[in-house]
Amino acid sequence: MTFEMKKIRAAGKGELYAELLSQARGLLHDEHDLVANAANFSALLYHGLPDLNWVGFYFMKGGELLVGPFQGKPACVHIALGKGVCGTAAETRQTQLVPDVNKFPGHIFCDGDSLSELVVPLIDGGKVLGVLDLDSPKLARFDQEDKAGLEALARVFLESLQ
Ligand code: SME
Repeated sequence: MTFEMKKIRAAGKGELYAELLSQARGLLHDEHDLVANAANFSALLYHGLPDLNWVGFYFMKGGELLVGPFQGKPACVHIALGKGVCGTAAETRQTQLVPDVNKFPGHIFCDGDSLSELVVPLIDGGKVLGVLDLDSPKLARFDQEDKAGLEALARVFLESLQ
């Protein structure tokens, strides 16, 4: 398979997410491997979305979250369920949209550049597979449109594993 990431020109977030969804489907459609697709998916988001300093996965292993494929600086390896933004997303099964990480009780600092964060839980057949985590060096980088766009992208990722 060859895949060439197109330069994304979008007038707004709606167009940007529509384009990323189409690129994600193209990138993942003929592969089902978890690590391969998580690696390529993180690279697609990191290079396709503006103002990110970290994007990637934590997967459930042995009852806690363990870092998976990502783009950005080296990160915390283990996160307990219920701890930090990632552990909260995994425990509550709800997307966590954090405009200012300094105001999130228990936020885990991995990269000092991160000021806002969005974490989408990955639910596969009723079980928490892990989370998709995005960090930004800008305050309030993520809004409801990003939440909806990234939840839709996370579904494409999950479907690719079937
Ligand atoms: N800030 C996260 C930890 C993971 S890093 O941001 C990559 C948290 O509080 O769970």
